[in-house]
Amino acid sequence: MPFGDLKAVRKAITEETAAILVEPIQGEGGIRVLPGETLRALRQLCDEHGLLLVLDEVQSGVGRTGRLFAHEWTGITPDIMAVAKGIGGGFPMGACLATEDAARGMTAGVHGTTFGGNPLAMAVGNAVLDILLDEGFLEGVARKGLLLKQGLAGIADTFPEIVDEIRGEGLMLGIRCRKPNALVQQALRDKKMLVAPAGENVLRLLPPLTVSEEEIQDALERVHTAFEGIATATGD
Ligand SMILES: Cc1ncc(COP(=O)(O)O)c(C=O)c1O
Repeated sequence: MPFGDLKAVRKAITEETAAILVEPIQGEGGIRVLPGETLRALRQLCDEHGLLLVLDEVQSGVGRTGRLFAHEWTGITPDIMAVAKGIGGGFPMGACLATEDAARGMTAGVHGTTFGGNPLAMAVGNAVLDILLDEGFLEGVARKGLLLKQGLAGIADTFPEIVDEIRGEGLMLGIRCRKPNALVQQALRDKKMLVAPAGENVLRLLPPLTVSEEEIQDALERVHTAFEGIATATGD
């Protein structure tokens, strides 16, 4: 469905429809934040039509946005949720969470997988959650996210010919570029800063949640210097 187009979603629902699946914040799509009212409307649509609301929080979950899960900013609850990446803190691990009601069809043995329930992965996930749920950790992510976003917004003001928009939540931020994002990515790489490209000509900044405020300042200086280099090279 076109992003955020509730009318189109409503029109697409038929008797065959089982569920609506969305990312609260699209990662590969270009750090596109689904507005809270849209997610709440999708929840309502699911309730009206007896559909499951499935959230993909593989990128946005596990503290990335400053809440345990990104959908918590909107006050809704999904029926099923996919979680991976952050939950393993670098170790390969994923999880599928479901409400008791939605899980009625998933009895033991129905959802088998070779490495599922791996004891080492489970121990790692537990350790990650211990740190994440420690007092003040998530607030710290939100605070550091704001620091990075505000710093990037300042850089965007200085280099409007390079930056179109800064978007995202917490430490899941995107720079929408006016120059080809591959060019901007390379300029940042030359300053020893790794960012990932995404849709809509966006570069994703996804620092570890344990990043320090000093490291954020250092990163902002590198972005500024890299953009100065681009501006000089392109004569903007
Ligand atoms: C939002 C999102 N969902 C799902 C996946 C797939 O996750 P996995 O590689 O754990 O199957 C990815 C991988 O990049 C992702 O970004």
